[in-house]
Amino acid sequence: MKTILIIGATSAIAQETARAYARDGDKLILVARDPARLDTLSEDLKSRGAGETHTIALDVLDTDRHGEVIEEAWSRNNGIDIALVAHGTLGDQTGGEKDYALAAREFQTNFLSVVSLLTPLANKMQEKKAGTIGVISSVAGLRGRQSNYLYGSAKGGLNTYLQGLRNRLAHHGVAVVTLLPGFVDTPMTAELPKSPLFASAKTVGRGVYKALNKRKNVVYLPWFWWGIMTIIRCIPEPVFKKLKL
Ligand SMILES: NC(=O)c1ccc[n+]([C@@H]2O[C@H](COP(=O)([O-])OP(=O)(O)OC[C@H]3O[C@@H](n4cnc5c(N)ncnc54)[C@H](OP(=O)(O)O)[C@@H]3O)[C@@H](O)[C@H]2O)c1
Repeated sequence: MKTILIIGATSAIAQETARAYARDGDKLILVARDPARLDTLSEDLKSRGAGETHTIALDVLDTDRHGEVIEEAWSRNNGIDIALVAHGTLGDQTGGEKDYALAAREFQTNFLSVVSLLTPLANKMQEKKAGTIGVISSVAGLRGRQSNYLYGSAKGGLNTYLQGLRNRLAHHGVAVVTLLPGFVDTPMTAELPKSPLFASAKTVGRGVYKALNKRKNVVYLPWFWWGIMTIIRCIPEPVFKKLKL
């Protein structure tokens, strides 16, 4: 039986990943900011076979508590086998273009809070010489676009951070998995018009579960986003800057 830590556990994608681990009978430590939704999720996962569940309420912007939260999660079962960081916000792009406070919040939630949480967690796994860290980033981090470059650049910074962390921890038996979904039909994208490119939270959540178990490096979810992003990244900048994306 493995111990799985999920931060941002009430995310639609993370809930699907948690259900897959519950079916395996694993122990789940669930961290999210809404205690009522955490309780509901915990009961649901127990009914699906989770060996044990434990919940911790946390607003990830409260970085002063990150050390104690990681310590609590780690000490409950003498370590964590797999940690998934899933929280994120698709903030107000046009608002952030006018108001730095909104832009900074986007960076704090999508990038800096992850660095703050992974600092103590990575050190513990490095010392134990075991573990897997997975973080849900986004294909939006692979090329800046006018429609969402605040979110995209926060995820882009996150991608580079995870690449460096993976390089560091590979020498200590710890895997770091960068998860790159494309469009997923979740509360985060409720306002966006849907297209055939949208995947379900279930498909992507199962993809996260498989990638973590296989200790992959970088995974596109669904896989076809690798092809789309390869083409998008090949467009020369003089052409790309004229597109309205
Ligand atoms: N949906 C997509 O198209 C898509 C595409 C690429 C990447 N992603 C990434 O996938 C991940 C999961 O998102 P999702 O699609 O599953 O959307 P979601 O269901 O809206 O999940 C987002 C989660 O982030 C949590 N969160 C936001 N700010 C927080 C804070 N300050 N403290 C604690 N928790 C906070 C939310 O908690 P509350 O429920 O309490 O607000 C929610 O559980 C995110 O990292 C997102 O950037 C999504």
